[in-house]
Amino acid sequence: MEEIIYKRRTIRRFKQDPVPLELLKKLIDYARIAPVARNIQALEFIIVHNAVIREKLFPLVNWAASLPEEQRTPEKGREPTAYIIVLVNTHIKNAYIDFDVGAAVENILLGAVNFGFGCCWMGSINVKKIGKLLEIPDYYIIKQVISIGYPDEESVIEPYIDSFNYWKDNEGKMHVPKRPLNDIIFKIY
Ligand SMILES: Cc1cc2nc3c(=O)[nH]c(=O)nc-3n(C[C@H](O)[C@H](O)[C@H](O)COP(=O)(O)O)c2cc1C
Repeated sequence: MEEIIYKRRTIRRFKQDPVPLELLKKLIDYARIAPVARNIQALEFIIVHNAVIREKLFPLVNWAASLPEEQRTPEKGREPTAYIIVLVNTHIKNAYIDFDVGAAVENILLGAVNFGFGCCWMGSINVKKIGKLLEIPDYYIIKQVISIGYPDEESVIEPYIDSFNYWKDNEGKMHVPKRPLNDIIFKIY
């Protein structure tokens, strides 16, 4: 468990081997049993693994805002091979939903590492166009997209110095600064 938590980094470049549908369903099963405020379960999910839909979805998500523009978006042949779209069914509930989304997505991300996948949790998305493309009724809120595939890049944690910006080195490796443990433990009683 600890190994998976430390291993998980955002991945934005993917090998093109297909991700098995059964494993994508399993990831949603992990989300299904995540903690939920008042246990009112409004989250629903769309799996996209069909190549035609994937190609149409790809331009509707935005990559790596901290990087210079030419380094952000996966190059041709390194795109995600699957997506999970996280939806809120507003007929069920709307309150506290962002906490529910966070817990569900993290279950998916950690489960994905265990299967050898890399993921990018994406909030910068074109909700209107995704709704249209995937024919999602209005009573759903499209919350987040998770891009998935077998990783084709490496990403490592770096000590935080004075900026939260992640960067990519000349070999294409990602570096992600994280604040040190002693800085974020505000108090111990
Ligand atoms: C709520 C949320 C929204 C995010 N949205 C995007 C996004 O739209 N595009 C993107 O490339 N990364 C996105 N990320 C990924 C973050 O950039 C990434 O988690 C952060 O840089 C830390 O890297 P790490 O996940 O490897 O620790 C998002 C992460 C979170 C939690």
